[in-house]
Amino acid sequence: MTKHLPKGQGAPSDGRDTNRDGQPIRHLTETAKTLIVYFSRSGNTESQAQLAQQFLRADSYELTVAQPYPSDYRASVDRATREREAQDWPELCMTDFPNLNQYNLILLGHPIWAMTPANPMRQFLIQFGDQLGHKRVASFSTNAGYGSGDTQQVLAQLTPAGTVILPNYSVHDVHLEQTTSDFQRWLTQTKES
Ligand SMILES: Cc1cc2nc3c(=O)[nH]c(=O)nc-3n(C[C@H](O)[C@H](O)[C@H](O)COP(=O)(O)O)c2cc1C
Repeated sequence: MTKHLPKGQGAPSDGRDTNRDGQPIRHLTETAKTLIVYFSRSGNTESQAQLAQQFLRADSYELTVAQPYPSDYRASVDRATREREAQDWPELCMTDFPNLNQYNLILLGHPIWAMTPANPMRQFLIQFGDQLGHKRVASFSTNAGYGSGDTQQVLAQLTPAGTVILPNYSVHDVHLEQTTSDFQRWLTQTKES
C-alpha cells in the first residue's frame, strides 16, 4: 500500500517509491495492449498508476532512478533544479523493460516538477520517445495545485511525428481521493479514443 503522508507541495517521500528498500513495480503480461510507465517520488502518482492498472487491466512499469531522490522535499527540489538547469537528467534503472511492439496505448504517469514532467519522465522520453511513433500516448500527472505545465509540448517534442498525443489528465494531489471517478472517466475515454 502506498503511504499517504501529508500531501501537497512538500509531500514527503516514503522512501519506498524510489525503491531504496522494495522492488519496483513490474506488472507485465504477454497480452495487454496498454502499458503504464510511471515515476513517483512520494507515492501520489503511484496510487494513480495502481488505480489505472487495475481499472484497465493494463501492464505497468515503474521507472526508478539509479540514485533515488532524497526523502527530504527541499533537498529533492534542489537536486531536481540542478539537473534541469544543467540538462543533466537522472540515470534510469531499466531492468525488464518490455518490448513496446506489444502495446498500442502508452500511459505516462508522473509528478509535475517545475511545471514540467518530473526529470525521470523526461529522461524516459529522451531514451524511449523514438519508440512511441504511431502509438497513442497520454500523460496523467499529479501536481500541487498548479496544473500540468508544458506536459503536452514536452510529449510532442520528444516523440516522433506520427505519435498520437491524446489529451492529458492532471490532478491536484490533495484531491486524489475525491476525483477517482474523474480519473476513471478519463481512462475510459483515453482507451476508447
Ligand atoms: C522537485 C519537485 C518540484 C515540484 N514542482 C511542482 C510544480 O512546479 N508545480 C506543482 O503544482 N507541484 C510541484 N511539485 C509537487 C508535486 O508535483 C506533487 O506533490 C506530486 O503529487 C508528487 O507526486 P509523487 O508523490 O508521485 O512524487 C513538486 C514536487 C517536487 C518534489
